[in-house]
Amino acid sequence: MSTLETQLQTLQQDGQAAIAATDTLEELEQLRVKYLGKKGELSQILGGMGKLDATERPRIGALANEVKTCLQTALEERRTALQAAQIQAQLEAETLDVTMPGVYRPLGRTHPLTAMTDRMIDILVGMGYTVADGPEIETDYYNFEALNTPADHPARDMQDTFYLPDGHLLRTHTSSVQIRYMADNEPPIRIVAPGRVFRRDTVDATHAATFHQLEILAVDEGLTFTDLRGTLRVFLESVFGEDLPVRFRASYFPFTEPSAEVDVQWQGQWLEVMGCGMVDPNVLKAVGYDPEVYTGFAAGLGIERFAMVLHQIDDVRRFYTNDLRFLRQF
Ligand code: DAH
Repeated sequence: MSTLETQLQTLQQDGQAAIAATDTLEELEQLRVKYLGKKGELSQILGGMGKLDATERPRIGALANEVKTCLQTALEERRTALQAAQIQAQLEAETLDVTMPGVYRPLGRTHPLTAMTDRMIDILVGMGYTVADGPEIETDYYNFEALNTPADHPARDMQDTFYLPDGHLLRTHTSSVQIRYMADNEPPIRIVAPGRVFRRDTVDATHAATFHQLEILAVDEGLTFTDLRGTLRVFLESVFGEDLPVRFRASYFPFTEPSAEVDVQWQGQWLEVMGCGMVDPNVLKAVGYDPEVYTGFAAGLGIERFAMVLHQIDDVRRFYTNDLRFLRQF
């Protein structure tokens, strides 16, 4: 065997072994240059061909081609394998484990007072009412005067009022929205006005200095006490459920005449749930409506009280302290 032949065979064996042992595409490229590059080992061996016998040349030449093809194939196969391994490694590194527990996002929920308010609004909107609102800081005029409650009126004793140093006050009821809405609109009127109200009450299980009311007002030609009763009956049955015993008891409010308090029979007892009445002609006059043409009815209720009755809540303060154990029940 000629030396060249031995060298070629060694090159092939060493080359194949080295190529098979590579771990990276960079190493593989270095081996390609080392064996098959312009100044690589194969070229160097072939440089010795000139010294060969003319008879030997074709055989060695053919062998050299074989070695070259063999190494090229080995390089190609190894490249394919390394590339596949690289992609595989990348896929594994980037794999998402879809069975892993997710990051817990606490889900917010509607506060029971908001839910109660929304429910009442939905019922009244379904009956053709629109939502109205007014400011929490009011003037004496909208909170009392225009509601037929002048400064010397004894009914002012019914409500202890927070007065601001500039003479404004915190509204003691949502009835002020009646005046604001009527002053800006002409009959027919059907509004529901939910909102915060303020009283200088000592806070206890059934009293808060800040609480929520919902006001109902309808003004049109020919409205009667029967319309008031029918409307409130439908409203209360929608809130509490069908076949609810409802009774109207004569009462007094400065801004309605006649006035009544509404009781419902709920879980075996009569509960007082709202005040109501026919809008006093003086109130209609205050907003420029002719009481000979128009009549109206109004009602007001405490939202906390409704929520407490419906959810059997024992203390009004639970609505405001934001104890999550309480809030999560709704
Ligand atoms: N504003 C009254 C209060 O806060 C509730 C009320 C009674 C409102 C009778 C009305 C009504 O509209 O007609 O106690």
